[in-house]
Amino acid sequence: MDSNVVLTVNGESRALAVPAGRTLLDVLREDLDLTGAKMACDDGECGSCIVLLDDKPLMSCKLEAARARGKAITTIEGLGRDGVLHPLQEAFLEMGATQCGFCIPGMIMRTEALLRRNPEPDRETLVKSLSRNMCRCTGYLKIFEAVHYGAGLRRGRARSNRAERDGNRGVGRSVQRLDSPDTVDGAAKYAADLKMEGMLHARILRSPHHHARILSIDTSAALAVAGVVAVVTADDIPGTPIMSNCQPQTCLFPKDRARFLGEAIAAVAAETAEIAAEAVDGIEVSYEVLPAVLDVEDVLDGHGPALYPPLPNLSPATEFHDGDVAAGFAEADVIVEDTFKTARREHAAMEPEAALACLDENGVLTIRSPLYHPFVQGQESIANNLALDVDRVRVICPAMGGNFGKRGDAQAPTVAGLLALKTARPVRLVYSRSESLLGSSKTPSAVMHYRIGARKDGRVVALQATVHRNMGIWAPYLADATTQGRELCRFESIPSVLSHITGPYEIPNVRATIHDVVTNGPRSVPLRGTSGGYLPLAIESLMDRIAAGLDIDPVEFRRRNALGVGSRTHLGQVMTDSVGIRAELDALREPYRQCLDRSRSHGNGTPWRRGVGVGCGWRSITYVNMPDVSAAVELLPDGRVRLLAGSVEQGQGATTELAQIVSEALDLPMEAVEVTIGDTHLAPYPVPTFSSITTLVTGKAVQNAAEGLKEALCRVGAALLERTPEDIRVRDGFAFSRSAPDFALGFSRLYEEFGRRRMPFRHEGTFVWEGRATDGNTISSEGDTPDIVYGFNACVADLEVNVENGRVRLNRLVNAADPGTIIHPQALQGQIDGGLAFGIGIALSEAFHPDKPATLRHYGLPTTKDVADEVTSIYVEDPCPRGPFGAKSVAEMSVIAPVPAIINAIADATGARLTEIPATPDKVLSALRSVDSRLWRGHRTRR
Ligand code: FES
Repeated sequence: MDSNVVLTVNGESRALAVPAGRTLLDVLREDLDLTGAKMACDDGECGSCIVLLDDKPLMSCKLEAARARGKAITTIEGLGRDGVLHPLQEAFLEMGATQCGFCIPGMIMRTEALLRRNPEPDRETLVKSLSRNMCRCTGYLKIFEAVHYGAGLRRGRARSNRAERDGNRGVGRSVQRLDSPDTVDGAAKYAADLKMEGMLHARILRSPHHHARILSIDTSAALAVAGVVAVVTADDIPGTPIMSNCQPQTCLFPKDRARFLGEAIAAVAAETAEIAAEAVDGIEVSYEVLPAVLDVEDVLDGHGPALYPPLPNLSPATEFHDGDVAAGFAEADVIVEDTFKTARREHAAMEPEAALACLDENGVLTIRSPLYHPFVQGQESIANNLALDVDRVRVICPAMGGNFGKRGDAQAPTVAGLLALKTARPVRLVYSRSESLLGSSKTPSAVMHYRIGARKDGRVVALQATVHRNMGIWAPYLADATTQGRELCRFESIPSVLSHITGPYEIPNVRATIHDVVTNGPRSVPLRGTSGGYLPLAIESLMDRIAAGLDIDPVEFRRRNALGVGSRTHLGQVMTDSVGIRAELDALREPYRQCLDRSRSHGNGTPWRRGVGVGCGWRSITYVNMPDVSAAVELLPDGRVRLLAGSVEQGQGATTELAQIVSEALDLPMEAVEVTIGDTHLAPYPVPTFSSITTLVTGKAVQNAAEGLKEALCRVGAALLERTPEDIRVRDGFAFSRSAPDFALGFSRLYEEFGRRRMPFRHEGTFVWEGRATDGNTISSEGDTPDIVYGFNACVADLEVNVENGRVRLNRLVNAADPGTIIHPQALQGQIDGGLAFGIGIALSEAFHPDKPATLRHYGLPTTKDVADEVTSIYVEDPCPRGPFGAKSVAEMSVIAPVPAIINAIADATGARLTEIPATPDKVLSALRSVDSRLWRGHRTRR
């Protein structure tokens, strides 16, 4: 029953009829359209929904709206005054503390409450206060900086005027990000924030079993619920029910068998979200529960039924070899080997999956949903499922609350689209956090056996690896034997793992065997980087052990084996340029030595033991058989230009970075560049925004397009000014003669001339990848050699381990990256900070298992308490000739190296070598128990 409530929101009285039990968050978002406060978890654990109730921070998802009567409610939209940002909002912008922005309103509101109580909080207070707000993008460091700066502004400190200092054009400058302002004042609209007239609300029924035969589905009771408009199951899918690659499940809804806990079975569209939830409970599914197989070891031990009979759950081996491994080991003076295990991990973007679908006035199914490939995972896949021509589906990517590999999952937009078609009404579908955790794709877990041999001179001469990786319910080898095509899984492919099997080292003799394992879990996809994020634990742990065995400094040992220009990789590729790993290791020598010195002078007398570790990583930026990628730049009548690209903004700063490239190429201020991305109808240049390709690949296509337009502008300008094109220069929206600079033509005048001459206003540019094709399953040093651009990363970790409770605290991370030419220094730093926090989570806390409670805290998402006290970033700028102005991507590389650096530092601190991550306290204690207690009690490194 509704009750009449008067709420005071942002200084205004609002009278509302509120149903019993409706939360304040729902009232703000749904009834008052104040969508700045977000729903990102199910249970008040993430802080994204925080508003102020009087002066106190309140998780608005936890309070019944009626109980807010008589209090002053302030939301992010009401924090500024008369269109002027509040100092904290200004500070978050100025310090680059917002990326995807989804968590930012909650962060700002929490901070504002803190600063009202304590205008000058110290770091410890801040860490503690913000530890109840989660952010997946920033690694929290720029948030700390922003709070510090914003607190100063509140106290009347002078502004930094960074924008004035850095200017607002071109590459190499921290220009104002184009997407950020909307994220600090609540204006950014994510899919769950969108509404339409007559909109229905959808909800999905999910399997409560890891594995079960579906005997029957009875939707009659659900359909009978008043307000229910449609219920759909597998029988209602009009097209081919195959999802494109990177899906958590291979079909939209399974027909006969649920293969993982949380798999979608059916969906409902109803007048309200509450009715949809009630109807979902009314769908009766009769299951025959089947035995399940959840882990790699279960499959290797022969447990559990075949999930795709008659195929086994273990794929055939994919073998790779280069050189003569037996001869290499015979030559080695030291050989080390071990078995390593990593957990399945969750992307945990703060925005859960969501979609709003409708039929537009032309009958085109238009779906607004965060997808990293709106074309293939969006438009094509949806059209395929819904039996529509591709051009009858339009996908628009609204503001996206983080990706990290998660947004290849087109289930939410496809279900919303199916229901919109069936009901002929707009339909919005928003996942809860537990749905997102259980039902979305994950990264593989892996069991790896590595053996590495080196000579006394410190050269690694042989490497042998066997990897079993848990792919969940779908793996590429199944594609050959089922009706579901090879399109599935093409990016998380075995060859891609093989290209990273050695780490960034030149090793002459390599043999690798890889098996995929199918289990009852969500399907595996990349997480912040394609393939093999688990490999460095094995490689880098053994590199440390060999270095110790040979009594060589671990940085020096890596340096001796690191790839450089002229090195030949195990795939036979001879590296020609932009190989930063040696320079990174050189840059880390001194910080490593400093950390060691501090560590060695650290006194005992407490249970904390201090240690230092180093780790390296690499990631392919281009990949084998990558298609050409195009983009366009268009001259507008008013003399500005419009950039069109198929990329999406996911918080990484692509909008700004691509505009900077245009700005640099045409020597224009940023205000003169308009950006259209993430819309399949307006910017039809299909390209995914994944796997680190945006900066290098899309960026180069954009640069080529801008230079094509520049060439045309110069040509027309030359004709009008009666000069040669070589004599013409463009700057600030004018073309002028270098030899007679008083004669200039504005771009708007040139636009007219383009029209008169019937010249195209739009110029397209293409990035053509020149690497030779290599067949996916026969990649070998004896076949074609690929031509892959790699990014490199090296990291030093300085930490302490509590030998009584197994807890680890990070003192310092020193990270070295090779971004080529830096396009936006501040955004780059934000990406590195975020990547390091990911690495910390992978090393110490993050593990998905379907039997764990489906919450972010149980998953182990790092908070402010988990990141390092101090982070130092070093950049080795070695321009990449194939990238735009020499730039290449970095965001995914910085995740890799901190993981082994941390694990090696734990070993340095205690002597305990962990072979399984995350290194949770119980695992650390167990590893401690397995070493000689005399060793770790008084442990000091032997170096
Ligand atoms: Fe915090 Fe994206 S900026 S979750």
